Amino acid sequence: MPIQDELASTIQRLIQPGQGILAADESHPTIAKRFTAVGVESTEEKRREYRSLIFSAPGLGEFISGVILFEETLGQQSLDKVPIPAMLENQGIVPGIKVDKGKKPLVNAPGDEITFGLDGLEDRLEIYKNQGARFAKWRNVFHISATLPSRQAVEANAETLARYGAVCQSLGIVPIVEPEVLIDGDHSIERCAEVSEAVLREVFIALARHRVALEHMILKPSMVTPGKDCPKAPPEQVAEATLAVFRRTVPAAVPGINFLSGGQTPEEATENLNALNTMGTQPWALSFSYGRALQEPAQKAWAGKLENGPAAQEAILKRARLNGAARSGTYSAIMEG
Ligand code: 13P
Repeated sequence: MPIQDELASTIQRLIQPGQGILAADESHPTIAKRFTAVGVESTEEKRREYRSLIFSAPGLGEFISGVILFEETLGQQSLDKVPIPAMLENQGIVPGIKVDKGKKPLVNAPGDEITFGLDGLEDRLEIYKNQGARFAKWRNVFHISATLPSRQAVEANAETLARYGAVCQSLGIVPIVEPEVLIDGDHSIERCAEVSEAVLREVFIALARHRVALEHMILKPSMVTPGKDCPKAPPEQVAEATLAVFRRTVPAAVPGINFLSGGQTPEEATENLNALNTMGTQPWALSFSYGRALQEPAQKAWAGKLENGPAAQEAILKRARLNGAARSGTYSAIMEG
């Protein structure tokens, strides 16, 4: 298939109404942290068991269009001995892969960080594609303080995101471009809006410079909220602040905006997405690409025991279904049961 058609067909599958993306691409240290919280030691076998269980939840494909995998999982088999990417395809779900190599301090910019992984990216993408991945994810982070992020952090991070996006598209892989403005801190919602606007503006300048086809990418941003050390803002305020920034900075050609949950509770992430979808018609599909907000209840239900598999599957299905409803603004707290 020509590359443009390949990209268009993957985008089409990913942005279906009522559906969103499950981010299950935690690196080893991150998944170890999540497992420790439910009293489980993170081993390769336990990671395989847990991820295999949640991906095979019956009917997950009704609400989840794509799953972002970590490299290890892309090469693993399910508990029924089916390669994980094939098992996802059998559920009607597109397999994707996290391709950045994590972040480190940005030299000469105290407090800022930069994401690594561009070296050898093409070769790795070829391998991942052969293993069944059809889309990729790369995350850059921006810290907020009175002085952060610095100008060089905003520019350097935007540049790496754009270079990653261009490489992905050249190989027929849809890039999820993730500039995460971190929730850590005691900043106001107005300060978050100011930083988010500067970051998104720079990201789209860089994407244009590298000729990334906006029609064939997905944006994975954070919502505009107060810092996590401040009282929470009501969903309507989050939605209004988020949309105001996005209307100024995100071109209408971008087909989908799939938010990260970034430390919001599962219920909060669903409520906020729902509010975003009750504010009238937008040029982009507003959906989710949640990690913690989809998986937390499932991890608690599983607690490392195979016999808890059905309960874990029920828990992830519930969050997926409720976020699916939030895609059309039809979620209400009563549905939490
Ligand atoms: P959270 O929804 O837990 O923030 O994770 C999404 C993600 O993929 C971060 O890179």
